[in-house]
Amino acid sequence: MIISIYGPAGSGKSTVARLIAKRLNFKYIETGSMYRAVAWKVQQSKLDPQDEEKVAEVARTIAIEFQPGPERQKVMVDGQDLTPVLQTETIGQLAAIVAANKGVREVLVAQQQKMGQNDNVVMDGRDIGTVVFPDADKKFFMVADQEERAHRRHAEIKVNHPEIKFEKILEQLQQRDSDDENRKVSPLVPAADSIRLDTTGMKIQNVVAQMIEEIGPVHS
Ligand code: DC
Repeated sequence: MIISIYGPAGSGKSTVARLIAKRLNFKYIETGSMYRAVAWKVQQSKLDPQDEEKVAEVARTIAIEFQPGPERQKVMVDGQDLTPVLQTETIGQLAAIVAANKGVREVLVAQQQKMGQNDNVVMDGRDIGTVVFPDADKKFFMVADQEERAHRRHAEIKVNHPEIKFEKILEQLQQRDSDDENRKVSPLVPAADSIRLDTTGMKIQNVVAQMIEEIGPVHS
């Protein structure tokens, strides 16, 4: 069974996806981390992120693996645990550029499809319900008011970076939304058959409860 959860940055999709996977005992695959991993390697290798061929080659040769961790799962890149590093805003911005690369998408989409072949999975990411698994059993498109999403991001980031201002986060989020919606390859659009969930003002546990109800009985 495949449950796809997608939507814009800060819509709460990864938190919710993680909780749903735990509740149902499904594998959780956070596809954004895969684009972030490629971005990280592009940065480490000092490549020009706009160099389509070289960046696609990084995607073809990088080894990305998800491993269970104590709280959240670990993202192993070429054998190294890069979980916290991949979450930074710099890597996020570079990932948005890398994610517009057709060669990169081909490689990562194929890997994601393979990961979902033999397992029950919850997968989150921008194009899971449209490109990766158009026939997913359940598709949730999560949205939330832009200001609220920026507040959520700010609260997360503030823990380690108290100097970062809300306005800065909002500005970055507006840029990310526009990059994700307007790129030529796999832009962020809801599939016609997805269930739209507006999480503005909603508590996480209520969002999860609503989704579990929509999913219904699961046979593993
Ligand atoms: O969800 P995130 O912030 O970790 O994603 C990082 C970048 O990767 C973001 O710009 C969107 C892109 N992405 C994508 O294009 N397709 C996916 N399935 C997942 C993420």
